[in-house]
Formats: sequence, C-alpha cells, structure tokens
Amino acid sequence: MKNEIKDVVWITGASSGIGRALALRMARAGYRVAATARRQDALEALAREAEGQVLPVAADTTDAASLAAAVTRIETQLGPIGIAVFCAGTYQALMGAELTAAKARPLFELNFMGTVNALEAVLPGMIRRRKGRVAMVASLAGYFGLPTSAVYGASKAALINMAEALRPDLARSGIAVQIVNPGFVRTPLTDKNAFPMPFLMESADAAEAFYRGLHSNRFEITFPRHFSLILRLLQMLPYRLSLALTRLTVPKDRPTTDAPSVSRAS
Ligand SMILES: NC(=O)c1ccc[n+]([C@@H]2O[C@H](COP(=O)([O-])OP(=O)(O)OC[C@H]3O[C@@H](n4cnc5c(N)ncnc54)[C@H](OP(=O)(O)O)[C@@H]3O)[C@@H](O)[C@H]2O)c1
Repeated sequence: MKNEIKDVVWITGASSGIGRALALRMARAGYRVAATARRQDALEALAREAEGQVLPVAADTTDAASLAAAVTRIETQLGPIGIAVFCAGTYQALMGAELTAAKARPLFELNFMGTVNALEAVLPGMIRRRKGRVAMVASLAGYFGLPTSAVYGASKAALINMAEALRPDLARSGIAVQIVNPGFVRTPLTDKNAFPMPFLMESADAAEAFYRGLHSNRFEITFPRHFSLILRLLQMLPYRLSLALTRLTVPKDRPTTDAPSVSRAS
C-alpha cells in the first residue's frame, strides 16, 4: 500500500468509538479522511481535533441515496476514494424471549444493509479505476452464536460471509477486501454493557491494530489476538462442547421465555 499513502480514506461510523479513533490515526499519518456518521456536530468536533485533515460528510448509512450523495461530495472535494472503511453499526442484547422481527430488522438494516449501501456507493468507482481497498467491520461475535447476541452476531456473521465471497471476486478488479473482527473495545457502545468484557481494549490501541491491518494484505484484521484465538477454538469444537460452554454465559438476570418447555431446551 505504499503508493496509497496519501489516498483518500472514507470512514463510516466515524463520529465515535473505533471509527473516530481510526479517523484520527489515518489523519495523523497524512491521509485525507472523509468522516461519515449522522451527527454533524460530532463530525465537526472530530475535524477540529484532526486540525483540518478530516472532511465531515454527514449521512445515514441506512439511506442509500444519502450515501451516494456523500460519495459524490467526497470525490468532488478530495478526489477518488482509495480506502473505504465501514464501521457504522450498533449492538443490542436480545434474549430468545425478547426476539421479534421488529427488534431484529433495525440491527440488520444498520449492520448489514448499511454496509451493502456503502459498498453500492463506492464500488463502481473503484472497479472503474481498478484500484481500491474496502474494510468492513464485523465482530468476533460473528464467529459463533453467543447468548444475547443472536441478531447482532447473525448480522456480523453475514458480513464475514459477504467479505469472504467478495475477496476473490473483487481481487480480479484490483480491489482488496478485508474483514475486521474486533473483540471488546472501550467505546460509547460498550460503555453501556453491564457484563464483564474479557480482554477489553482501549479505542486508540484498537485503531493502531486496525491501522496496521489496513497496511497489510491480510484478509482478516482482528484484535485483541488472544480473544480472537479463543473464539476461533470455540468455533472448531464439536457442538456438544461449544454449546455447553456458551450455555455457561447465558445471563441469569435477562428474561427467559414464559413457556417452560422452551426454557428447559438448550
Ligand atoms: N466496541 C466494541 O467492543 C466492538 C466489538 C466488535 C465490533 N464492533 C463494531 O465496531 C463498529 C463501531 O463500534 P463502536 O464500538 O465504535 O460503536 P460507537 O462508538 O457506538 O460508534 C458507532 C458509529 O456508528 C455510527 N452510526 C450509527 N448508526 C448510523 C447510521 N444509521 N448512519 C451512519 N452512521 C451511523 C455512529 O454515529 P452517529 O450516531 O453519529 O450516526 C457512530 O459513529 C460497529 O460496527 C460495532 O458493531 C465494536
């Protein structure tokens, strides 16, 4: 990526957390960064902190037209996007007894379809130029179904699968596809979690690992390494063992279903 050092970088979900920390890291390295999220004021605060190296471009990733307009504006003002990083996403804990389509849909709309909208906006230009790098932020929760993460984890597993499919396909057009699987990172999103978060990382450390990964040709960027390895091992165990282990993590203080026959099932 040496010849991409001064590329234009587009980061969604850049108003807070991992995306914001990465935007600052990329700006510090001399990239021209376009930062997208819904909150204009938070993006302007980021631009001030980056001392003019960040262009705030507010847009909603669940709205394809708003993303298309954002990409047109970025490419007019800064030039062709060389690196696109899709961080916009959210988490909601959902137990089986709370699961409804109405609760699941917004998580998928943002985490999965929001990323598809961003791909739709940026890929045609990259394919025309036969050059580009796209990194999509999924999660270690996408490796294996974890209690309370039924819908969140499924939306991230969908991203991992999509990235696996796109990597060899888009390589033929000169585009590098990467998947980013973080463990727990201290951000406004995880500040809401009341449960223990093993191997919790600071967002600046996460941004550093993310930054290094973007400068490699690895398909997967994952951090922290130990947690990633543990969840990979879980994925490789026979279901009899892996499901017995994840059963231990079912929170006792969350609602269970009213139907006793279902609540006894594992
Ligand atoms: N923190 C962790 O431990 C962790 C672990 C694994 C994976 N992840 C993933 O990493 C990504 C970033 O998480 P984070 O912890 O940094 O969370 P965060 O601090 O809550 O940041 C989420 C970002 O997404 C933006 N966003 C939300 N809805 C949006 C929408 N409709 N359109 C545009 N932007 C939107 C938010 O900005 P606005 O509110 O201004 O729109 C914000 O900039 C997420 O995809 C998350 O699933 C995080």
